[in-house]
Amino acid sequence: MQTELSFAGLAGIETELLAVTAVDTQSAKGPEPKPAPALLTSDEAVRAAAATVIQSGEFKAGANETLLLHAPGGLKAKRLLVVGLGKQDKVTVHSVRNAAGTAVRFAKPRGIRELVFALPQLDSETPAPALAKAAVEGAVVGDFDADTYRSERKDQRVQQFRLVAPAGLDGKALQAAFAEGEIVGESQNFARTLVNEPGNKLTPTILGERAKEMAQEVGLACEVHSTGKLHELKMGAFWSVSQGSEEPPALIVLRYEPEGVKAGSNSGPVLGLVGKGITFDTGGISIKPADNMEKMKYDMAGGAAMLGAMRAIALLKPKVRVLAIVCAAENMPDGKAQKPGDVQTAMTGKTIEIINTDAEGRLVLADGLSYARQLGATHLIDAATLTGAIGVALGQVNAGAFANDDATFAKFEAALKASGEKFWRMPLGEEYADQIKSDIGDIKNTGGRYGGASTAAEFLHAFAEDVPWIHLDIAGMAWIDETRPYIAKGPSGIGVRSILEWVRSY
Ligand code: BES
Ligand code: MN
Ligand code: ZN
Repeated sequence: MQTELSFAGLAGIETELLAVTAVDTQSAKGPEPKPAPALLTSDEAVRAAAATVIQSGEFKAGANETLLLHAPGGLKAKRLLVVGLGKQDKVTVHSVRNAAGTAVRFAKPRGIRELVFALPQLDSETPAPALAKAAVEGAVVGDFDADTYRSERKDQRVQQFRLVAPAGLDGKALQAAFAEGEIVGESQNFARTLVNEPGNKLTPTILGERAKEMAQEVGLACEVHSTGKLHELKMGAFWSVSQGSEEPPALIVLRYEPEGVKAGSNSGPVLGLVGKGITFDTGGISIKPADNMEKMKYDMAGGAAMLGAMRAIALLKPKVRVLAIVCAAENMPDGKAQKPGDVQTAMTGKTIEIINTDAEGRLVLADGLSYARQLGATHLIDAATLTGAIGVALGQVNAGAFANDDATFAKFEAALKASGEKFWRMPLGEEYADQIKSDIGDIKNTGGRYGGASTAAEFLHAFAEDVPWIHLDIAGMAWIDETRPYIAKGPSGIGVRSILEWVRSY
């Protein structure tokens, strides 16, 4: 999708589709009769073209609700689309991100290949550049569909998205924000493309190759190691998962060094991003039921989120050192696979009793976190489709976040404001850690039926120890089952934007 920012007057723009936004102005205990929605444009020609239908009361301007007019009088545009932002007092930057996505997804199945989105102005607390960034993010994300392997792809991509801003705004700041938004949206789609790949087309080795290609394109250092290196580093936890597959594991390491900060200098933080990259999770010997097992191709979504974030980091160049580690393996029930009851020795020397071979994500991450620390990470963040329990707790609404340090989490919360992604903080605690004490060794890899997301997080905590650390459990959110107006069903790319914004806050 080609994108462009301009400042033309709306009425004179020749386009297949001009999209403008509107808000629902009804207050909760508002008067009767209900007031009509308010269009968020001062363009008189657009207001006149939409006046009758807006007054009719048929369109409520609910979030992502749409209204289409053909041949709108007084406009050069062939169609006028009004997209709702929802209740006026609840409108945020994120509403605009979604509205832009909704406009693009409205155009796609109708064969409309080019559209113009009119940037609204909200209150004085919402700077126009933030809105421009969000709008282009939403458009790029909205353009993605997961039908990669269809001979005739149902929804062709939109070819051109033009964002039109009201005249009189700071053009330079808007242009910079617009360019950022495009990078962020494309990086999220990069992650989604990887997550969408089936297990036979994306083995750990191929994931490593994809990471290398991306790194080369954006100028990141990247190394991909395999079995030999795992043994050399004594990564017994990571290896125990991959030993049951014919496919060798991949230990993917990416580094970003900002200009002006000397490599190896001891000043300043080093952010360590660690992603779960299980390219297919059968459960291993503790095999999963057949129902929905095909979904387990997305068990590398945490790793993909880290790769997407690194892509954006390389292009946006924040002033902080970042390293990323993706632990990629296939969890299979081969003759050589590990068995329940086996004891494994992690890189740190901790011994792990394997209760359930399906709790494999925490095993690969244990060594990934340890390795990030060995490479000098001062702060850690991991992302993983770790537990079904997080989906039970939070649904396809919020992803889970855990942290051992409030100050670090506060920065993550601030990042959420900018990203628009929803994460809900979940508890760690000694009682959960007690649930994973082992009789035979130091720790066991499952903690029983209750509190599954928290016992999994405590398992990782045992390897992050007291290094400031955030754990993101995205199992419930990495794949969305139903298409939404602004995003296609399938891989969501959750995590990319928040991890990126968190990194940029250092
Ligand atoms: N990859 C799964 C978690 C998962 C479940 C991701 C559903 C996406 C959707 C993970 O490896 C797993 O199998 N976890 C087990 C842990 C249990 C054995 C303690 C689970 O959640 O059932
Ligand atoms: Mn599993
Ligand atoms: Zn898994």
